[in-house]
Amino acid sequence: MSILVTGGAGFIGSHFARMLVNQSASGGQTVVLDKLTYAGNMENLREITDDLHKSGYFKFYKGDICNRELVEHVVKEDAVDTIVNFAADSHVDRSIMDAGAFIDTDMKGVYVLLEVARNQGAKKFIQISTDEVYGAIPEGSFKETDPINPRNPYAASKAGGDRLAYSYWVTYGVPVIITRACNNYGTNQYPEKLVPLFITNAIENKKLPLYGDGMQVRDWLHVKDHCEAIDFLIRHGKNGEVYNISANNEHTNIETTHLILDELKKPHSLIEHVLDREGHDRRYSLDSTKIRQLGWQPKIKYEEGIRSTVRWYLKNEDWWRKIKSGEFLEYYKRQYEHRMVSKSAK
Ligand SMILES: NC(=O)c1ccc[n+]([C@@H]2O[C@H](COP(=O)([O-])OP(=O)(O)OC[C@H]3O[C@@H](n4cnc5c(N)ncnc54)[C@H](O)[C@@H]3O)[C@@H](O)[C@H]2O)c1
Repeated sequence: MSILVTGGAGFIGSHFARMLVNQSASGGQTVVLDKLTYAGNMENLREITDDLHKSGYFKFYKGDICNRELVEHVVKEDAVDTIVNFAADSHVDRSIMDAGAFIDTDMKGVYVLLEVARNQGAKKFIQISTDEVYGAIPEGSFKETDPINPRNPYAASKAGGDRLAYSYWVTYGVPVIITRACNNYGTNQYPEKLVPLFITNAIENKKLPLYGDGMQVRDWLHVKDHCEAIDFLIRHGKNGEVYNISANNEHTNIETTHLILDELKKPHSLIEHVLDREGHDRRYSLDSTKIRQLGWQPKIKYEEGIRSTVRWYLKNEDWWRKIKSGEFLEYYKRQYEHRMVSKSAK
């Protein structure tokens, strides 16, 4: 197999690329294409690039999935037969500030990849979608057959890519599989998302800006379990199908925050409730019976997964301190400053 991992320098994509390279004793090829946006980080691939002589075939291309010529070149040059598309603008808050990049990458980029897959006769195309396409659910859990109802620009652009991929299966027979996973956590996650933001702020004794009452419910899936599920679906998934991937680890954001603070032995007084995210989905929940019936199940327990993630951020300060300067500071100020000020002014 020659697998193209788009967005492979990001959080989940880099875990997936590492997993593939470690498996590639069997002769498989791993090719990463990543634009290296603010969220892409070559450090995430260092284990592979430092050890290239020991690992299997690995190649990195810096570039945009919207660039059709480049995608065509990569697919031909490395005889790619399988595309796993992680590339995305992925942060809801940034999509609320400006949806432009989300429409480009999460919709047009998917179109370009699908066109190349169609013309080059790809054997498998995995579109990494998200639970957010379903929207919020007050009780019960979404099944793959439930209607989608995305409620923020990130979710809506992902829904566009998700349904476009499906249409390429129905219309052209491109062998597409669509995955919808719940919230991931683990090492190497850019510290704008809740878990790494709160871990790193707590290490720095800074306030943890918790949206609203913190009672939003998320189902937490360890990134390694997610990557194993994708690998499993490449081999056992059925073309044209959607698969939910979840761990049945539903927790309120305040519970997750407490777990992080307790692990770091930091006081709960570091929590600052701030004005909620606009249109914040209250609860996500997935029914993942379909993939479990095929034989996959998650292995990592939530409490242990959060603890080992906290330990990684403690040991890898170099990794996140570099990120939490420059562009990140500008974003953080823009996102949180007015929320903290207007809340305390009330
Ligand atoms: N993080 C989660 O909890 C979660 C849950 C479900 C699904 N997903 C999906 O998984 C995928 C990966 O998410 P993540 O959290 O690793 O995101 P991330 O933001 O950490 O990584 C995204 C990567 O894509 C790259 N990229 C962005 N635009 C690109 C473009 N135009 N061309 C090439 N590369 C580009 C970035 O440089 C970055 O390396 C996304 O599609 C996301 O929607 C994420």
